[in-house]
Formats: sequence, structure tokens, C-alpha cells
Amino acid sequence: MCGIIGILGQTPVAPLLVDGLKRLEYRGYDSAGIAVIEGGHLASLRAEGKLRNLEAKLAGNRKAGRIGIGHTRWATHGVPSERNAHPHLTERVAVVHNGIFENFRELRLELEAAGRVFSSDTDTEVMAHLVTANLADGMAPLAAVQAALARVRGAFALAFLFEGEDDLVIGARRGSPLAIGWGAGEMFLGSDGIALGPFTDEITYLDEGDVAVVTRAGAVIHDETGRVVERPVTRTHGNTYVADKGNHRHFMVKEIHEQPEVTGRTLAHYLDLAEGRARPPEGIDFSRIDRLSITACGTAFYAGFVAKYWFERFARLPVDIDIASEFRYREQPLSKDGLAIVISQSGETADTLASLRYARVEGQRIAAVVNVRESTIAREADVVLPILAGPEIGVASTKAFTAQLAVLAATAIAAGRARGSIDDVEEARLVAAFSEVPRLMHEALRLEGQIEALARDLAKVKHCLYLGRGTSYPIALEGALKLKEISYIHAEGYAAGELKHGPIALIDEEMPVVVIAPFDRVFEKTVSNMQEVAARGGRIILVTDRKGAEAAAIDAAATIILPEMPASVTPLVYSIPVQLLAYHTAVFMGTDVDQPRNLAKSVTVE
Ligand code: F6R
Repeated sequence: MCGIIGILGQTPVAPLLVDGLKRLEYRGYDSAGIAVIEGGHLASLRAEGKLRNLEAKLAGNRKAGRIGIGHTRWATHGVPSERNAHPHLTERVAVVHNGIFENFRELRLELEAAGRVFSSDTDTEVMAHLVTANLADGMAPLAAVQAALARVRGAFALAFLFEGEDDLVIGARRGSPLAIGWGAGEMFLGSDGIALGPFTDEITYLDEGDVAVVTRAGAVIHDETGRVVERPVTRTHGNTYVADKGNHRHFMVKEIHEQPEVTGRTLAHYLDLAEGRARPPEGIDFSRIDRLSITACGTAFYAGFVAKYWFERFARLPVDIDIASEFRYREQPLSKDGLAIVISQSGETADTLASLRYARVEGQRIAAVVNVRESTIAREADVVLPILAGPEIGVASTKAFTAQLAVLAATAIAAGRARGSIDDVEEARLVAAFSEVPRLMHEALRLEGQIEALARDLAKVKHCLYLGRGTSYPIALEGALKLKEISYIHAEGYAAGELKHGPIALIDEEMPVVVIAPFDRVFEKTVSNMQEVAARGGRIILVTDRKGAEAAAIDAAATIILPEMPASVTPLVYSIPVQLLAYHTAVFMGTDVDQPRNLAKSVTVE
């Protein structure tokens, strides 16, 4: 979380820092700030809230410096406020930070005892004071930073600016990503290649433990032992990113509507539609794998949860699935011939990355399903399965989720083929079914008007339940997550069969229950659960198909009827109505749909 940027330029950098920060706002938007060297001295400007507040302040207080650092924050330590906004400054140094210093309390006590005065509640400020104390002891900037880094525990990326130094920014990376951008007579630093897109497409990603001394002439990188090292320069695709909502009111709804195209592209990459074959993923021999462990967070976890059903059914492969923050500490024994699949849109989620590293230590081969190919998770995996969704700007994940599903479905079919659990005919049948998904998604999107009308009522409730069975169970979980994160309505997803084991106590006339129930082999069981809800006066919103609507014979408050389709593909298509329901409910509630409160797009802290 938090985005950081640094620019050593030839013209005033304040507007450029803000441009870069706009591209990093997905990492947090509680507050923002910049620091520059003006007339040889450190000067800063910070503002609580969205970046536009900082921009407004800058309009009335232009900053002339040609070197600077900037930050957009997702609060960890200390409430979102101007006082806690980065950069944090002392008389000698300004610092921006993405991550957490776990031992900041003891360091702060020590520094305060030595007479240093703190002006924020953040963990970051200890770093500014540690470096300042080292500079006061006569150390040069690099040594002062290295000595300070040796004192902190945790995961972080940092950028420093120094009083009186008009040609020096120091960056450091341990656990959180940091990239250097190369220009002609200009240099850049940023949390990712996207932030640096307007300035350069030549990027060097720092490795764990690296410290970079950046001047306008270039960068000298030191590894964690202090040795000078070369890191490769790569070309990024960041420049192609355009933050454009088109005709849509929000990025989220634009991204919902992009799904037929994105899914089509992703499926075409992984499936040979003409031949009716799934392309075997390079670098994974499924015939030798005896167990699969899938880890991820949030929406990506639910994609993995659907994939569990697919891998078990298509490939007869036992699958363990766990939330990354649990998996990383559980010390689960992993099989010698196991494959670990980590799923992450951003490729930077701290818990997912830690799970990858745990799986690596346990001897697993590692495949990463990611959207950002330059991300840390992609770089550390043995095999990268890109989801090809394009940049996802809305904080609530939509097109990345269905693209993750597309990759996982194709991989599960390929695994089934490799393991002999599906034959040519079955493979061709499955590939044909998935090739229909973009068309089915288009048809689902046509129901938007009906769903918007339903959302008007949903926007009046305080609580909502989502039920599903089989692969519709993770879709129910995802539907509930979507609703709560953007509308702030309390929502829970349950396996339909679990209803009677507790949640049924919640059902009354006030409780809407969204039931995801395609007419599949568990449909009748779900109908029994719906009867239980109806008998207690619950308001059912049934998402099904024509056959399901007829067979349910239930007095639903509303029925959303999707086209009929093979059971294998329903998770992809049924995602669309649950996304639209959450989106339109949030619009009626008047929330900040693309940047909901308290959230960030990339969660780089535990
Ligand atoms: C919810 C959402 C989050 C992310 C989660 C993992 O809409 O987007 O739950 O899915 O934070 O993020 P990634 O996929 O970047 O690892």
C-alpha cells in the first residue's frame, strides 16, 4: 500500500510528481504529499484526503524545485491526516515510505530519549530521525541510510531527499516494490512501472535489500551486503496505460463492460479454439504433480476457490486452497511433487508473496496468475500465467476476477488432459463451452437495466445474504464482498447448505437473499434452501436461467434470468449480475465507487 515517487528533473518537478502520484492512487488515497529542494532547502506540501486536495494546495503554493519525492498514503500507523501524511521531514532529510516498520515503537522511544522530537504518529518518522542522527554523526547520506536500514524490521520501500543536495535521491527496497526509471539527464523512482509511464519506459526493478543512489547521471545500486551490483533494464508497458473512463461514469462499470472482450482475449491465449484444445502451460508437467495448493487474498482467493472445483473435477487433482495470510504462517506440510498456484491481480500483495516464498522453501514448483507481468510475484514465480486483463483501475476487482477464472479454467482443462482424466472429446466439449463465454457475458450485460432497478431497493437495506452451491458458492462469496466493499452494506456469502446451521436465524422480511443458482446438478438442493428462506419471509433475488426459474417454483421478489449454459462456465457469466448489482447499489448509495473508503488496490502490507 502507499505509492512513492521520486524525480530528478530539469524543470520544476511538483506537477510531474503529482502526475506520477495519480497513477499510484490505486495504492492508497488517504492523504498525499511532496517534498522538493527549493533554493537548496527542503520544502514540503501535504494534504489530507484525495490527491486533488494536494493539487488544489499546490495551485496556490507553486513549488519550484527540480528534484523531489512524493507519496500517496494508505494509513497503517496513525489516522489519515495532514500531520501523518508523507513525506516526513527533519532538518536534514525527507522520506516517503511504503510498508511497515514493525519495531518502530522501541526506536521512537530511543530517539525521543536522545532528544529527537516527533511530529506525527507514523512508524515512518523514525526512519527520518534515524538517518538524521546518522548524518549528524558525520556519516555520508548513503552510509546514513544503510545504517538506519540495519535498525528496522519489516517490509518497505523508501525514497529519501537530503537538505542541500540538489542531485541526490536514495531509494531502498525490502519487501515492497521499487523501480528506477532511466531518462536523458533525468532520473526517476517509483513504486511501479505504471507510475513512471509518462516519463520513461526504461525501468530497473530493485531486488530485495537493494539501496540505489540516484543522481541525474544515473543510478548506482548496492545489494544488501553493500556491494555495487548491476540490475537489468527492462522495457515496461506502463506508457500505454490511459486513465480514461470513456463514456462510463466509473472505472468499475467500464471494467465490468470490458469483460467479454478481456475474457475472449484471455481464453484465446490459453485455448486453441479452432482445434478444441487447451494449450499446456509451459513449465508445468501436470502428469507429475500430485497435489495443488492455491493461495491468494480477497477476490483473487475466490477465483482460486472456483478453480479448486475445476481442478478436482477436470484433472482429478487434490487441491488445498487457503487465504494467503493464513497459509503463510500455518506451516502446512506440502507434498514433494506439489505445485503452488498464487493468484494476484497486482502481483504485489504482501501475504500472497509471502505464501509464494513459503511454498518455495517447501520445494514446490510455483505458478503465478497475475495481471502485472513486471510485479514481484511474477518475477519470483517459476511459471507466469498472465491474465491479460489490462490495467484495472477500480479498486473493486471485476475484469481481473473473470480473467483469473479464464486462466484457471484453461489450466485445469490442460491439467485434465495431461493427467488423462479427460479425453479428446471431453476436452473439445469443454473448450467449446468456454469459447461461448464472451457471447454469454454480452447477454448478461443486457440485463443491466433490470439489475439497476433492483439495486434501487437493495440500496435501502442494512444487511444482505448471498447463497450458492458448488462453483456458485465462491461466486456468492464474491458477490457479498463486492456489495460490502463498495456500498458499505453488510453482506455475507454462504454455501447454501450451511444456511440451516446458523445464518437462517437472520432471515426475516427485511433480509434480502441473493441466490446464485444455475440449473445444474445441485440446483434442486439449492431450491430446498430457498424454500427455507421463503418460509421465513426472506426476500429472494434469484439469479438463474429459464429452466431454473421454471423449476424453482418459488415466490422470489425478483428473478434475474441468464441464458442457459454448461455448468462448467457459469462462474464466469454469473459474476456479471453480482458485479452489476453491487455497482448500481453503490451508485444509489452515493459512495465513492472507484475508491471506496479504507481500501487500496494493492495491499503491500500484512
Ligand atoms: C476486492 C479486491 C481485493 C483483492 C485482494 C488481492 O474487490 O480487489 O479483495 O482481490 O486485495 O489483490 P491482488 O489480486 O492484487 O493480490
